[in-house]
Amino acid sequence: MEKLIINGGNRLNGRVRIGGAKNAALPILAATILAEGEYRISGLPMLTDICTMGELLAQLNISTSCSALSRFCGRDGISTTTQELDSSDLLLVNNDNGSIIAPFEIVNKMRASILVLGAILAKRKQAKVALPGGCAIGERPVDLHISALEAMGATISVNHGYIEASCDRLKGAEFTFRVVTVTGTENILMAATLAEGVTVLNNAAKEPEVVDLANFLVAMGAKIKGIGTSRLEIEGVERLHSANYTVMPDRIEAGTFLCAVAGTGGRLEIENIPVDSMEAVLLKLQTAGLKITIVDDRHVIAESDGKMRNIDIETAPYPSFPTDMQAQFMAIMTKADGDSIIDETIFENRFMHAAELKRMGANITLKGNRAKVRGVKELSGAEVTASDLRASAGLVIAALMASNTSEVHKLQHLDRGYEAFEQKLKAVGADIVRVKVAKNNE
Ligand code: UD1
Repeated sequence: MEKLIINGGNRLNGRVRIGGAKNAALPILAATILAEGEYRISGLPMLTDICTMGELLAQLNISTSCSALSRFCGRDGISTTTQELDSSDLLLVNNDNGSIIAPFEIVNKMRASILVLGAILAKRKQAKVALPGGCAIGERPVDLHISALEAMGATISVNHGYIEASCDRLKGAEFTFRVVTVTGTENILMAATLAEGVTVLNNAAKEPEVVDLANFLVAMGAKIKGIGTSRLEIEGVERLHSANYTVMPDRIEAGTFLCAVAGTGGRLEIENIPVDSMEAVLLKLQTAGLKITIVDDRHVIAESDGKMRNIDIETAPYPSFPTDMQAQFMAIMTKADGDSIIDETIFENRFMHAAELKRMGANITLKGNRAKVRGVKELSGAEVTASDLRASAGLVIAALMASNTSEVHKLQHLDRGYEAFEQKLKAVGADIVRVKVAKNNE
């Protein structure tokens, strides 16, 4: 077990390079189930969630090789390779020898494992995927994934904690998502590429990561219209083929670094930032007082004196403000000049970080899915515990803004989604170190 020790108060100055988007990489890796052959996926972030997907693909008889990821993962899912690959390139080989099971041990580690359901079923006509449970941020049902596949002709039952699905060939259908679901849209999009006939998905997610997956599927030979809109029309094909692809950069990692410099003050040059997909976040940060110079569509300079104005945010599906940036915004609003209102409309329980921020002296009042944050002059360092991935990032930002020393515990959440986070922060001036914790101190 590990924790971060952070001495707050340093301004951040220098350059940061953003890695590949976790939430695009995961469905793209899952999509390799759809066709036999050899794939080279570039720009993957070194994250434990990517290792978990590697492990899951290995279970499905898709071999994965990447020396850098293998060193990072240090376990079975990813094997080293003698082939010439860039350090972050992953080579996948799908021999399609038919395994259909995504076991509980893996799904339990990562909810996004559900992303393999549509692809396994479409390609292998049967799938058995452990039902993901709820998590710290809410109940997170997958009913829409299931009912959309049923609308396409699949027979599905849940037995002993597993979703068991079978079909002959999936059939095109029109389906309207009751709520916008990102992985739900991705799952059905993948399934529909191999269905017989046309599938129309209404109220589909428009998140940039869905677009990245759709572009990858098109590179594999899929026929998809309406990419980037809420109505996707997919004409199923008999077979797809393997393809090479570079994953888009991570807009949430980029937004997190922007929040960090907004909160601490300083000047960060952020490279490989997907500017086009970050409008809502950039606008809010500018309103709060962060000076943002867009050099080009992958390069931004952000400057701050560390004094933020209060702003209100409401999370909603893309292109509105992303729920995955809510905790980081709450962190910077704790020292803003005035009251900020944060409405979380996506997940019912995504304010776990508020209690931890209060331990650092923040003034936050919660009522249902609304948080009122009254800016205080100072945050004081404290020991805090991360509850989920983005909450961890919010706590690290608050610790960087606080006086004295903070400790952030439960780093397994952070490591799921932030590549070399403390190294990147250290390189731009943060006083941050990761240390091992004796088990009974965890
Ligand atoms: C994805 C992202 C996650 C992000 C979230 C919202 C990945 C791997 N994860 O999660 O980082 O926070 O989108 O942008 O991409 N819902 C249902 N029934 C369903 C599916 C969803 O009611 O069958 C509800 C959920 O409970 C939630 C809302 O829909 O309230 C949105 O969830 P969804 O978009 O599905 O989140 P994920 O895809 O799990």
